[in-house]
Amino acid sequence: MSLHIVILAAGRGTRMHSPFPKVLHPLAGRPLLAHVIQTAQELAPDVMHIVLGYGADQIQQYFTNHDDLFRTHAGKKPELNWVMQAEQLGTGHAVAQALPYIPDNSRILVLYGDVPLITATSLLSMLQQTSIDEVAVLTARLSDPQGYGRIVRDSASNTIIAIIEQRDATPEQCAIDEINSGIMLVPKRALTQWLQQITNDNAQGEYYLTDIIKLAVNDSVAIRGITLSDVSDIQGVNNREQLAQVERSYQLRVAQRLMNQGVTLFDPHRFDVRGELEVGQEVTIDINTIFEGHVVLGNNVTIGPNCLLSNVKVEDHSIIKANSVLEDCTVGRECTVGPFARLRPGTLLKAHAKVGNFVEIKKATIGENSKVSHLSYIGDATIGKDVNVGAGTITCNYDGYSKFQTVIEDGAFIGSDTQLVAPVVIGRNANIAAGSTVRKDAPAEQLTVTTRLQQRTVPGWKRPQKDEEI
Ligand code: UD1
Ligand code: CA
Repeated sequence: MSLHIVILAAGRGTRMHSPFPKVLHPLAGRPLLAHVIQTAQELAPDVMHIVLGYGADQIQQYFTNHDDLFRTHAGKKPELNWVMQAEQLGTGHAVAQALPYIPDNSRILVLYGDVPLITATSLLSMLQQTSIDEVAVLTARLSDPQGYGRIVRDSASNTIIAIIEQRDATPEQCAIDEINSGIMLVPKRALTQWLQQITNDNAQGEYYLTDIIKLAVNDSVAIRGITLSDVSDIQGVNNREQLAQVERSYQLRVAQRLMNQGVTLFDPHRFDVRGELEVGQEVTIDINTIFEGHVVLGNNVTIGPNCLLSNVKVEDHSIIKANSVLEDCTVGRECTVGPFARLRPGTLLKAHAKVGNFVEIKKATIGENSKVSHLSYIGDATIGKDVNVGAGTITCNYDGYSKFQTVIEDGAFIGSDTQLVAPVVIGRNANIAAGSTVRKDAPAEQLTVTTRLQQRTVPGWKRPQKDEEI
């Protein structure tokens, strides 16, 4: 029997107070809907139908531009079917829009674009526990069930007999702590009949998907309530506060997984991964660091507090000190970076290099054992090994129109406050005197000094004094 997944994502998300469709709001750096799609893919459905309405163009555009989010599973790329719900008349109406595209003898799993933390494990277990002619509903018991539909069970048999939306619930029903996650598994043929019977006679004037439960009970179809123990799985995002809560739940999950792999996190509550973080052994991460994109940390890597690492590889035994920002770059073995360093795209630090405070590096290679310790800008440069770049050195790489290269060969020593006007080559073991403005290639093994202003001392000069009597 084929499995079709319907993901509901047509609503505006009025409670977000945003011009953007709710399902495009980011969770851990990716839209809410991307999380649901990625989880859905793990179930290898025949087709994923995504119901869009508000902001449909924007949503489709996003996923067209990010088709790397769609992965093949077992050599099979799930088929995606965008379904339009022109008017958002309710969750039941939304599911009905997908029905014409689904064969009659299928099972339909309904997921919500605003319930992003559901795991493939929970869904697989739901599929396994439910026989093909049953209906299954994923539920949870919440200490604060506010806003969710409540699960009404028969007092004698304890079976599910209805789902009542909070706005339609009696005070007794409001007191029920078992809630509807929204996630349901239903046989297509029966669903089609039930959806034809539901009405919008309720507080919101909407066609509720949840109303099919009563109809299923009438038809004596078994309803399996599957109660999740990890309630964070089914948190819905209706407003910004819930978005922040879901973000924390997500991050805590990532943190727990990393700690279980042997990573030391000084505080799992102050740690954010917005992408994918791969780690070796004995990695230590201080507080408030953000990892974006694809970050790889080797063995014995230490990351100080308040750093941002975006698409970065840090090799074994390297230390990134506090307040450093690294983007699209590679840090080799046994390097030290920061505090307050900025490595921009195209930076490569080879083994044992050191980049100190207030240093900015862009499209540059710093060779083995070389040091750029203080207050420098190195852009469009290749620096060999055992080079020392003194404080305040600047590669003048840009004439306002083009960028030019600076090459510093092995063993060179660049005195402090030097400007290297590119294109320029500093030869092997060359020395550049402090305060030089180097416009021509500096020969290997020699000391190069550029003309400086003469230093003179003015005898008897006095600092201006404040006139006490005025
Ligand atoms: C819904 C459930 C509620 C459940 C909760 C779980 C119904 C009637 N209520 O309530 O029982 O506890 O989710 O989070 O199903 N959508 C459409 N088209 C529409 C309306 C909604 O695609 O016409 C989509 C929304 O974009 C959203 C999802 O369906 O992704 C849920 O809609 P929402 O309005 O947020 O429902 P809730 O009030 O949260
Ligand atoms: Ca919702």
